[in-house]
Amino acid sequence: MTISFKTKKSKVAKTDLLVVFSKEGEMPVLPPGVQVPGRALAAFGGKKRETRLVDVIEGPATRVLAIGLGSDDDPETVRRAAAIAVKKAEKTEGKAVTFTIDLWEKKEARTMGQALAEGIVMGSYRLLDFKSEASKPSLRKVVIHSGSDFNRGAKEGEWVGKGNILARRLQDTPANLMRPRDLVAEARKIARGASEVTVKIIDEAEMKKQGMGALLGVSQGSSEPAYLIHLSYKPKKKAKKRICLVGKGLTFDCGGISIKPSARMDEMKYDMSGGAAVLGTFSALAGLAPSVEVHGLIPTSENMVDAGAIKPGDLVTAGNGMTIEVLNTDAEGRLILADALVYAGKKVKPDAIIDLATLTGAMVVALGHEITGAMGNDEDLLDALVESGKATSEAVWPMPIIDLHKEDMKGTVGDLKNIGSPSTGAGSCTAGAFLSYFVGEIPWVHLDIAGTAWGASDRDYQGGPVGTGVGVRLLLDFLSRA
Ligand code: BES
Ligand code: ZN
Ligand code: ZN
Repeated sequence: MTISFKTKKSKVAKTDLLVVFSKEGEMPVLPPGVQVPGRALAAFGGKKRETRLVDVIEGPATRVLAIGLGSDDDPETVRRAAAIAVKKAEKTEGKAVTFTIDLWEKKEARTMGQALAEGIVMGSYRLLDFKSEASKPSLRKVVIHSGSDFNRGAKEGEWVGKGNILARRLQDTPANLMRPRDLVAEARKIARGASEVTVKIIDEAEMKKQGMGALLGVSQGSSEPAYLIHLSYKPKKKAKKRICLVGKGLTFDCGGISIKPSARMDEMKYDMSGGAAVLGTFSALAGLAPSVEVHGLIPTSENMVDAGAIKPGDLVTAGNGMTIEVLNTDAEGRLILADALVYAGKKVKPDAIIDLATLTGAMVVALGHEITGAMGNDEDLLDALVESGKATSEAVWPMPIIDLHKEDMKGTVGDLKNIGSPSTGAGSCTAGAFLSYFVGEIPWVHLDIAGTAWGASDRDYQGGPVGTGVGVRLLLDFLSRA
């Protein structure tokens, strides 16, 4: 699917579906020369998500789709309206869709343009690669007629939306086809596509040299080698700041010797969603060109069972020299993140670290599938992410890490243990507390996306038992403001 941009005044070319939006109580405006039957749109009220599909009597379009934005038109409404439009185009087997939009000006137009293109791209996402009778998507061409601010935003939204669906494709691909080495291949592909992005791959031999015993410990039960992927983006102009993103890239988590129940274990292919978010973000950086330097670290491994697998009670040593008692092999995400966080502090030396991980089932219990829990050591960074959450409708909610949580992670024979005590509870907070031992003084926020990474409720452009690509839109918004 290609998206192209035209001015408000340029003539609408032949199209299968012409899409027009209107706010509540306002009539949708059709471009000159497009005629629909007399009162076809008369009863259209412009309510949020209200639609009317009408045949055209005369003009370059076959059909017109009017979509209501309601009275509090916001980016999320536009994002959803765009997804409704492309889905309707697919249903009616349309090849070309044209949007004519003249509702906003300046900064608001840019924001709405971005939301529109995000909705178009995300609404068209389907993973068809693995169906033997794959129906090809019909939609090939999208044309947007609007002002320069709106079109500029839409161009940006196209990058953002593509980053999101890249993450979703990685998430939704079965774990036997999305192994650590496959994430490495994706990272290399992104770096090949943009001169601003480079990649370095740390293999197990190098991990041993750097003392990454926690990541290696998780990986030792798997026949697939682990990697630490290190992506870097340097802006063309001098960077204001250096931000490090860290994403959990556990391509399948069966729990290890502390094995998970088999019901719904298949969902653990999504345990690489943090890594997917980092890759999706990097795929859009060169296109969006934020003025910050960005590093992306993805510790990637499987968590499997075999005779060589790490056992409950085993001791591992992380890259900062801290010893960890692995009391539960299913709390592996924090182990692989620990070594990545230490690497960030030693090698990247960033101004801030943001990690994303499907870290705890407790987070799904606490906040469900619509809100990401955030915790860390820096209020300003936390506030900025909450703001980006509001702006993108990828909601973020602050969670605490208190001294008790940190104290509870201290080990008996080792410095730390990898699970909290049952009497402490607060499983998501103690996981965050564990991570805090590996970030030192660097401003840091941990985003637990266990609930939001997949299985979200319907928003037209996402929802259902599939990945959401959560984090990509959030991080790109954050980086654009940093
Ligand atoms: N990947 C899981 C967390 C998870 C669970 C994500 C459910 C999404 C849905 C993680 O590695 C894990 O197994 N965590 C354990 C930690 C526990 C052993 C302290 C959990 O949450 O049960
Ligand atoms: Zn686990
Ligand atoms: Zn896991």
